[in-house]
Amino acid sequence: MARIAYVNGRYVPKSDATVHVEDRGNQFADGVYEVLKVVGGRLSDGDRHFARLHRSLDAVRIAPPMSDAALAQVIRETVRRNRLTDATVYLQISRGPAPRDHLFPAVPHPTLIVTAKRMKRPDPAGYADGVAVVTAPDIRWLKCEIKSISLLPNVLAKQAADEQGAYEAWLLREGDVVTEASASNAFIVDAQGVLRTHPLSPVILGGVTRSVVLDLARAEGVPVAERAFTTAEIAAAREAFLTSTSSWVMPVVRVDGGVVGEGVPGPVTRRLQQAYHRHVFGNREAAPSNVAAHAAAG
Ligand code: PDD
Repeated sequence: MARIAYVNGRYVPKSDATVHVEDRGNQFADGVYEVLKVVGGRLSDGDRHFARLHRSLDAVRIAPPMSDAALAQVIRETVRRNRLTDATVYLQISRGPAPRDHLFPAVPHPTLIVTAKRMKRPDPAGYADGVAVVTAPDIRWLKCEIKSISLLPNVLAKQAADEQGAYEAWLLREGDVVTEASASNAFIVDAQGVLRTHPLSPVILGGVTRSVVLDLARAEGVPVAERAFTTAEIAAAREAFLTSTSSWVMPVVRVDGGVVGEGVPGPVTRRLQQAYHRHVFGNREAAPSNVAAHAAAG
């Protein structure tokens, strides 16, 4: 079946979907995006994704091309036309086509693209046993809170991690402070048992999954501190994990070849995996049995 994309008011087969050759998204990475899940036909954490989209659009001074209600309808319709009920949706808004000039066009016509694909589960082996990550210098700009389509540093970092056999690159500022990862947020359970992640600031993207997981942790009674951690603190940490819309709560058991804690996903990670699963799916399906069993044991 042909995949259907939404582009500026039309639903078209993906192979026929085009944007203008001088779209500012292509020429200047002048645009923002969101990646969100649709589960059972409903937007998962839609409010948080829409709130972030508005923050991104405001920050780059692009006017929303339509109301939130209309955009939610376009997302649902794109999912429906692709005959999906559980989907990963990509949404991009650029400043649109204009003769190439750094200055904004006088009358911009933003380009809105929505695509949907079957929701892929996080890698089951990694989800069960944990993944390895490597660290890399964070060479990005100082507006990382904007979900900008300008992702070249992220792409290079993730590619380098993959070529080292790692799942993700954890990014370092000031030499040893972890900001976040190339496409996810980074967490540890520190030596005192406190769940730590970098506070919201211009050097990280405020992940929707990050905010959900922090809420779930607080509700579970896990001590939480939105305080940055260093590589030395990773070495002393009990547990580590990363979060994103597509990786959910992914345990991290190796950082730069060093084992984290016991070298297996820890009890806090397991509880949060299970709580996140419940948050996304409700009672529709149980968490993978290994996750549930470990969470119960922890
Ligand atoms: N990545 N940090 C960065 C730099 C990201 O690109 C992402 C998301 C996150 C996690 O955000 P969220 O929990 O809202 O997915 C953190 C998306 C999924 C991507 O670019 O594919």
